Parts: sequence; C-alpha cells; structure tokens
Amino acid sequence: MKRALKIAGAVLALAVVLLLLFSGYVLLVWDRPVDRPVIAMTARRDSATVARGEYLFKTTWQCWGCHQAESRGSNLPPSGAGVFDLRTTGPGFGVFYSANISPDSATGIGGWSDGEIVRAIREGVRRDGRVLFPIMPVDWLHGLSDEDALALVSYLRSIPAVRNSVPANEPSFFAETLLALNVISPPPPIENPVVAPPATSTLEYGRYLATSAAGCADCHTPRNLQNGEFYLDSLFTGSSILFGEAEGEPLLSYARNIRPDSATGIGHWGEEDFIRAVTAGYRPDGTALDPHMPYPQYKNINPADLHAIYLYLRSLPPISRTMPRPKYSSAVAASAAGVDRGRLLFDARCRACHGDRGTASDVTSVRLAEATPLYTDDDLRNFVGEGQIELKMPGFSRTLSPSDLNDIIAYIRTWERQ
Ligand code: HEC
Ligand code: HEC
Ligand code: HEC
Repeated sequence: MKRALKIAGAVLALAVVLLLLFSGYVLLVWDRPVDRPVIAMTARRDSATVARGEYLFKTTWQCWGCHQAESRGSNLPPSGAGVFDLRTTGPGFGVFYSANISPDSATGIGGWSDGEIVRAIREGVRRDGRVLFPIMPVDWLHGLSDEDALALVSYLRSIPAVRNSVPANEPSFFAETLLALNVISPPPPIENPVVAPPATSTLEYGRYLATSAAGCADCHTPRNLQNGEFYLDSLFTGSSILFGEAEGEPLLSYARNIRPDSATGIGHWGEEDFIRAVTAGYRPDGTALDPHMPYPQYKNINPADLHAIYLYLRSLPPISRTMPRPKYSSAVAASAAGVDRGRLLFDARCRACHGDRGTASDVTSVRLAEATPLYTDDDLRNFVGEGQIELKMPGFSRTLSPSDLNDIIAYIRTWERQ
C-alpha cells in the first residue's frame, strides 16, 4: 500500500516537472524568429502598377477591412489595431491585433525593404523573422505572383504614413504551444519567380483570382478550428466561422457553399445570378446577402475577372455541404418592436453601405438623415423594399418583414429630429 502511494507520488512529481519543463520550453520558443531568406525585389512606382496594387488592396482582397481599428472605409490608411478576439474560437487562441501597414517608419512598414514586405505578405514572416498569426491570410496569399505582390508594395508606399502603435498580441498558452511545436508555421519559402496565368477570361486565371489574388477561398473554405488548417479537399464548400459572432454583431452568417452542387451550392445559378449575388447582394430568390459577404466593395470588381472566377468555380466537382442561412443574434431576437430593434436591424442590413447612423461611407455619399425627411413612410417602405439595382442598393422586401422595415424607419426618423 505504502509502496503504491510512493510510486504514485513519484509519477505525479515527474508529471509536474515535465509539465513545467514543457511550459518553459513553449514560453521560450513560441515567438522565436525563423530563418527565412529575403529576396531582393524592387517595386515599381509607375501609376499603372500603383493602380493594380490599389485594386488588389481595396477591391479583391480588402486588406484595409482588417488593417483598421474599425472598418471605416477604403480611403483611410491601414493604420492597424483591428481586433481579432479568438478567445472563444476552438480551444481559445487569444486576442490579436492587425498590424499598422502604412508607410510610417516607426510604427508601420516604412523602414522595411520591398522584399521584406513581400515576404510578410506571402510567407507570413515579419521583418524580424517572427511568424505572423494566420489571421493574416498567408495560406492564400502564398500563391500571389511576384508582380501582384510588388504592386501591393507600390500601393502601400504611395499612401500617407500614420503613426499608430498597435497593442501587442495576447496569444493563449494553447496558441503559443501550436507555434512552439510548429503546428502553426509559415508556408514553404518562395525561392523561384512566381508568375500568374495570363490575365484573360480563362478558368486558370479564375483559379488564380479566387484562391490567391482575391479573398474568396479564405472566407469560403472550412478550417480546422483546433489548429487553423484549411480543409483543402473542401475548398469553397463554406466557412467554419460564423461571421459576426466574435464581434457581437446583430447579423451572423456562414460563408456559403459556392461549389456547383445543385442542392447545397450554386449549381442552379447562371452567370447572371452569380454576378448579381457577388456585386449587388441579391440571391436568385430575391433575398439580400449579409454584407459580411463584401458585395458592397465587389461592385468594383473588373467584370472580366468575375467571369474568370465564375468559369473556375463551375469547373470544380460539386460537393454537397449544406450551409445555414444568416440568422440574427440573440440580442435582436430578444428586442421588442420599436426604435431599439430598428437600430439593430439597421446595423445588420444597412450600415455596411450607409455608415454608422447613415452618415455615409465609401459605398455611398448619401447622408440618410438629410435625404429621408423628403420621403413619407410609405415612400421609404417602397424604396427600401424594392431597392434600386442600377444604383446598387438592394431591395429588402424578401429579406425584411413589414414590421422589421417599420422598426428601421422609426430608427432613421430619430436622426432627422436631431
Ligand atoms: C482577415 C484579416 C486580414 C486580411 C484580409 C489581411 N491581413 Fe494583413 N494582417 C492581419 C493581422 C491580424 C496581422 C498581424 C498578425 C500578427 O500580429 O501575428 C497582419 C499582418 C500583416 C503584415 C505584417 C506587418 C507587421 O508589422 O508585422 C503585413 C505586411 C500585412 N498584414 C499586409 C496585408 C496585405 C497587403 C493584405 C491584403 C493583400 C492583408 N494584410 C490582408 C490581418 C489581415
Ligand atoms: C470576408 C468574407 C468573404 C469573402 C472575402 C467572400 N465571401 Fe462570399 N460570402 C461570405 C458570406 C458570409 C456569405 C453568406 C452571406 C449570406 O448568406 O447572406 C457569402 C455568400 C456568397 C455567395 C452567395 C451564395 C449563396 O448560396 O447565397 C456567393 C455567390 C459568394 N459569396 C461568392 C464569393 C466570391 C466569388 C468571392 C470572391 C470574389 C467571395 N464570395 C468572397 C463571405 C465572404
Ligand atoms: C449594398 C449597399 C447598400 C445597402 C446594404 C443598403 N443601401 Fe440604401 N442605398 C445604397 C446606395 C448606393 C444608394 C443610392 C445613393 C445615391 O443616390 O447615390 C442608396 C439609397 C438609399 C436611400 C435613398 C436616399 C436618397 O437620397 O434618396 C434610402 C432611404 C436607403 N438607401 C435606405 C437603406 C436602408 C434602410 C437599408 C437597409 C435596410 C439600405 N439602404 C441598405 C446602398 C445600400
């Protein structure tokens, strides 16, 4: 009996020592720099290259959406400190902040070489060799061509510098362990020139766009929420993340299955249907998409690019995976009809384009508080219900109930009186 106790005690002591050693090891190495060559590259400064970089930055990837404290629009510099609270994602990864990527030399990337910026974008390694947490979509940007990566650099060098120190990340011990054990590690080094397929309406170019030069795959592919790995055999079958949940937003949605499966994907959709969904936010059944799908920005996608993406998505084998439709948060469900509910519904359905309290955004310069006094309630119900597709304002009659619409109007009316 005594002997058994002694052995158990010894085993326990050993386990504690091993655990302490392991924790010490993790704390020591999780943030160690990796040894990665920087390729000497030079970004051009001509206006066509800067414009290409701006298109990738603002439209196809929307880097600014993550690289601002709040997504306040594509015309404000990406000064960082966007919060990614992953404390309840999977086992809990901690809290992370996006970097200041404006060309400030003290707090941004002003002092980095062109090659160092390209390495961060495509290989997820900072200037000092530390690994970026894969919220930054390096898995997909890894395939970006030299020319496009350098165009992003050219654009980043052309914008105003903003001095803004971003708070340090607060990874959980679990996240540190994944980094220490190289479960999270940067993708392979890029040693040879990367050339994109010719920019024509082919499915090869569509694949390049959908997976590397635009954010489609990053949002529309499921990931293992224990270690962040994407399930590449389920590419484009929908997200694992419920967009809006971690941020406590009123409308929550999964990115949907956009494989050509007839029952669960977009197999029944024609090209017109696809273009309308991606650029104007309507599904073929007339319901409006949750603006977590960035259709307000995709209205600026080059039509030839969209055609190529469509050809590529159609060429994929269908995979059956049912993704649920968007749902309102419990805060919306719990709120009684009236102005408060109208505020939540406005934030869910209208704010992405009209800005906070309708004070305009980079999608529309209309200031709703000035425009709506000219409308009667009936006019407003009709206008918002039907929308105006040529102005890229979706109609909501199939998405919002009459009482939802009334609540939104009641909320808008409260601004007019101020
Ligand atoms: C889904 C959100 C997201 C998107 C989209 C995104 N980033 Fe990031 N990016 C981050 C986060 C978060 C970090 C910081 C990660 C960390 O600290 O470990 C980061 C880090 C970086 C860094 C490293 C800077 C530094 O000081 O360490 C660069 C450069 C960068 N991003 C450029 C870009 C560019 C260019 C694009 C568009 C092609 C882009 N990012 C798109 C979230 C994003
Ligand atoms: C930031 C994340 C994000 C990015 C980037 C993104 N999507 Fe989406 N997408 C979503 C979400 C979320 C939905 C679901 C919206 C809803 O159900 O109302 C969606 C819905 C869609 C739909 C509608 C599918 C259906 O069955 O209703 C299509 C089509 C689509 N996306 C295509 C694309 C394409 C093409 C791209 C790249 C050009 C892209 N998406 C990029 C998040 C994203
Ligand atoms: C995809 C972006 C988008 C969304 C989402 C959206 N709108 Fe709009 N809305 C627009 C655009 C663009 C216009 C046209 C502005 C102009 O005239 O240039 C507009 C116009 C309007 C107008 C008319 C303004 C005027 O000057 O006559 C009203 C009212 C309005 N929207 C209300 C709403 C409400 C309420 C919601 C939410 C239920 C909503 N919108 C959602 C983009 C959007």
